[in-house]
Amino acid sequence: MVWKICLFLFLAISYSDGRVPSGPLFESMKEHISKLQREFNTSQPDVAEGGSIFRTHLKNALWSQAHERKILLAQMISKYWDLLTNLNSTQNPKDVRNLVEVLQVYKESYSESLKKAKDLIEIAKLPMDNVKIQRKAITEFYDVMLEVNKEEVKRKRRSRRHNPSVPMRYKPNPRG
Ligand SMILES: *[C@@H]1O[C@H](CO)[C@@H](O)[C@H](O)[C@H]1NC(C)=O
Ligand SMILES: *[C@@H]1O[C@H](CO)[C@@H](O)[C@H](O)[C@H]1NC(C)=O
Repeated sequence: MVWKICLFLFLAISYSDGRVPSGPLFESMKEHISKLQREFNTSQPDVAEGGSIFRTHLKNALWSQAHERKILLAQMISKYWDLLTNLNSTQNPKDVRNLVEVLQVYKESYSESLKKAKDLIEIAKLPMDNVKIQRKAITEFYDVMLEVNKEEVKRKRRSRRHNPSVPMRYKPNPRG
């Protein structure tokens, strides 16, 4: 009986993931992308000037945690969607259409992470030299700090649980 429940859960989980392109659908992207690479002359050396725009972040260990990485990837998916849906002209309209379809599916399955990325962008864009924004910010200041404090308390509790043998009095004093 227990194994039947396990099998059911396993199948339920695998099928709920089934919407995301994989296998042949994912494989087909490679061919479409190759065509765009030819169209955009990506093998010319000037493309590399100034470094990469997405790969740098993907390689960065900052983004190795799965749920955080999803936020980063969601933002990249969204930018590729913008790029392809704003192309005025292309020699490969069919490939572009196919890629947009796949990206659309990814966008839906990453929609929650995309919302998180949008929140961050919205906050990053706040003009802190604007008096009205400054007044709002000062109004909310203590509430924000309370949340920061809550997170810090949680984090300390977690790290104490992971190092129960470390006595509190050996905590380094940042002031020396
Ligand atoms: C790619 O190269 C061709 C031939 O030199 C040129 O006509 C075309 O405008 C280039 N495309 C891009 C996107 O730079
Ligand atoms: C694309 O088209 C829009 C208007 O249709 C125009 O404003 C824009 O400059 C075009 N972009 C390119 C890269 O040709």
